Amino acid sequence: MSRLIIVSNRVAPISEGGPAAGGLAVGVYDALKETGGMWFGWSGDVLASGQPQIQLEERGPVTFATIGLVRRDYDQYYRGFSNATLWPAFHYRADLIQYDRHDFEGYRRVNAWLAQQLVPLLRDDDVIWVHDYHLIPFAQALRAAGVKNRIGFFLHIPFPASQVLLAVPPHRQLVEALCSFDLLGFQTEPDLRAFCDYVVHEAAGECEHPAKNGSSTIRAFGRTLRAAAYPIGVYPDEIAQLAKAGARGKPVRTMKATLHGRKLIMSVDRLDYSKGLVERFRAFERLLDQVPAMRNNVSFVQIAPPTRADMHAYQDIRLQLEGESGRINGRFAELDWTPIRYIHRQYERQVLAALFRESHVGYVTPLRDGMNLVAKEYVSAQDPDDPGVLVLSRFAGAAQELEGALIVNPIDIDGMAEALATALAMPVAERRARYRDMIGRLRENNVSVWRDNFLRDLKRSGEARPAARAK
Ligand code: ADP
Ligand code: F6P
Repeated sequence: MSRLIIVSNRVAPISEGGPAAGGLAVGVYDALKETGGMWFGWSGDVLASGQPQIQLEERGPVTFATIGLVRRDYDQYYRGFSNATLWPAFHYRADLIQYDRHDFEGYRRVNAWLAQQLVPLLRDDDVIWVHDYHLIPFAQALRAAGVKNRIGFFLHIPFPASQVLLAVPPHRQLVEALCSFDLLGFQTEPDLRAFCDYVVHEAAGECEHPAKNGSSTIRAFGRTLRAAAYPIGVYPDEIAQLAKAGARGKPVRTMKATLHGRKLIMSVDRLDYSKGLVERFRAFERLLDQVPAMRNNVSFVQIAPPTRADMHAYQDIRLQLEGESGRINGRFAELDWTPIRYIHRQYERQVLAALFRESHVGYVTPLRDGMNLVAKEYVSAQDPDDPGVLVLSRFAGAAQELEGALIVNPIDIDGMAEALATALAMPVAERRARYRDMIGRLRENNVSVWRDNFLRDLKRSGEARPAARAK
């Protein structure tokens, strides 16, 4: 069996409770711990001086191969082109896109350098699976270094509509680079359609969809490749076990005691402007405004660990949220009740899962999100006899599958406040029916299915190739 090589910018720093915040780290870790293989990427270190060296570490069936970045590379490749240009563009925030040609050059340079670091570690029949927007030029870079193995790419974030992508000056180079992979994976069908729309209307290429299920054939930039939607999943039964065990633990019991029987609304996100936190806080405020019976009867816990904290856009959203939570709490709090508990901490997976299980509403309302694993984790963690209700943004990839959620538009504050009221009052029979529908989908489409479907198609995409040889 060929070895699986995962390449991603963020390589999960694994703590006792699992990887740190971020859907990529969580999903890839779950997928790789079963198959084994190698996980190659950035160590998370930024070096003030010296030449970065690869560190190899075996943990169980997985070899972690990580390398630091020098300051200039971090600034241009990670903070610059990846997170100040691509991230806002791919999340439909054209107003936040910043572009500097030198950052794009740095982005390509780092991709080429990372590819050169990986080449000596490769074997002839390795299957290489590259993840996310930081590494769009990675297949081009590996091919330039003589690598002939099969190379697939999975985009964890949305693929934007052409009119938004066109705002990124090197849009054509990016799509051409994507066409160097053998297989492209997107989170949802709308993402795949957006990609095909660009290929057909902006690159004079072709996109041929299969009559039934299966991947599409893309012809563009002189290449033929395959593309399909592979919605990333979770392991719902494992999360349910964690939630049950965590509910008996001290942190969750203590927290529950502080509720004094009030209902609980739970949200967990990286502190990112794509997550719709300001609108979410305002919709909770609207609920308290319009339904006085809710005051002192419901608590909203928002866990939001800071992310990319050295970037202006993230400093701005943090300040804004501190202002909003302070304002809303100042307006409604009483001596024995704080309406919003706003927490900037990482928690173990078990604690998060248990908090989901103890809550009455999972409040997941990103303005845009590739998938949103939190929505799937929330449903997985529920008690089947007394499940909570998921309030979910229509702009999360997860909304394509989780039809049993109350689907909201995250900029419609009144609509979200109404959905919260509906969720908090929903009879148990309806909650159970919605839960059964969603948990069934999650079990069918768990993270192994995501991995296996992608790798099956990647292997097929290489069937017509001559025997692969790494240089
Ligand atoms: P993104 O990839 O944009 O961060 P997702 O919802 O897809 O969004 O994935 C986030 C992942 O990070 C989830 O698995 C979630 O449980 C985890 N996570 C988020 N916040 C925390 C936190 N405070 N502590 C631990 N894990 C977290
Ligand atoms: O899943 C989306 C994602 O952007 C990953 O690519 C990334 O690792 C994660 O969220 C967290 O962001 P960062 O790696 O910048 O901390």
